[in-house]
Amino acid sequence: MPVQLFSPIQIKNLTFKNRIAISPMCQYSSEDGFANDWHLVHLGSRASGGAALIIQEATSVSPEGRISPSDLGLWKDDHIEKMQAINQFILSQNAISGIQLAHAGRKASMSEPWNGNKRLDEFNGGWDPVAPSAISNHSNEKAPIALDKKGIQKVISDFKLATKRALKAGFQVVEIHAAHGYLLHQFLSPLTNFRTDEYGGSFENRIRFTLEVLEAVQSEWPANLPLFIRISATDWADGGWNIEESVQLSQLLKEKGVDLIDVSSGGLVSHQQIPLGPSYQVPFAGSIKKETGILTGAVGLITDAHQAEAIIADGKADLVLFARESLRNPNLALDFAKELGVNVPWPKQYERAKI
Ligand SMILES: Cc1cc2nc3c(=O)[nH]c(=O)nc-3n(C[C@H](O)[C@H](O)[C@H](O)COP(=O)(O)O)c2cc1C
Repeated sequence: MPVQLFSPIQIKNLTFKNRIAISPMCQYSSEDGFANDWHLVHLGSRASGGAALIIQEATSVSPEGRISPSDLGLWKDDHIEKMQAINQFILSQNAISGIQLAHAGRKASMSEPWNGNKRLDEFNGGWDPVAPSAISNHSNEKAPIALDKKGIQKVISDFKLATKRALKAGFQVVEIHAAHGYLLHQFLSPLTNFRTDEYGGSFENRIRFTLEVLEAVQSEWPANLPLFIRISATDWADGGWNIEESVQLSQLLKEKGVDLIDVSSGGLVSHQQIPLGPSYQVPFAGSIKKETGILTGAVGLITDAHQAEAIIADGKADLVLFARESLRNPNLALDFAKELGVNVPWPKQYERAKI
């Protein structure tokens, strides 16, 4: 049987040259939301490293939606120019460029990981985070501000405007971040959403905000380009969002024209119990694909060529996303091709190293 990891796949108008994607990874290296040469080198080297798709890190749709003051953003037109240049480079490497649009909700206003990942107050460059309900992430933190209807409409409009800018910047895939305990996930889960209006309570009410964000994104994103959503398939906590609700939501997202569910998990509450291990999230991608027929992406502790090949060959997912392994090895797609006996083109500048 031919190697599945290097078989192309068409999604909407785009052909992905293989099934390897670089997972979005915050670099906490921006000032005022701007991309810079770090992002060019980080994303660019992974594009020349042979992955079909490079997804830019969680990019905030508003200043208050940033996890940290150093997050990337797309809340003003001035942000477009550098991203455009980066995307031109990614394209020149025969790779596809994607962007993850995000709002951190109650997980906003934190210091960078190397500065302790601590809540920043307004005297230290921070701001008051917003959330579906005024419940803090950690008991010692000031509670976030519960969004009112006007606030909800503003976030939806911010997603719409950021999508318009993403298109101008030359991104070809947009991914909505609805995972890892950030704002959309906070609305989805009964552990963080205590609202009594039409955005809280029943499953239909908790998913309403995500569907409205999707609609806003779709109003700007061309129907012939791929649209992904990243979800946390489970909260790994009693009474939380779970795989059954994820399947139900994925079915609806499929009907509404979403192309692929990027299936992660957790990140919402500190008492989560995650059974970490190789491919530990892959069964969720498999269930969602099997139950709904939508394309899925698998991510999480996938580090080797044969492991990734089995995920695609066994029909568990259609793309495999790599995060930390791609930090260790930006050329992992080129290396995996060699290991699986597939001849893929290398950048001509590096051909002398291809044996
Ligand atoms: C440095 C770093 C930054 C990350 N930033 C993001 C992000 O911006 N958006 C996101 O959805 N996940 C983010 N993640 C999670 C990864 O995309 C991925 O889901 C997770 O690391 C598991 O995959 P892995 O085992 O291949 O690292 C980040 C992970 C790392 C290591």
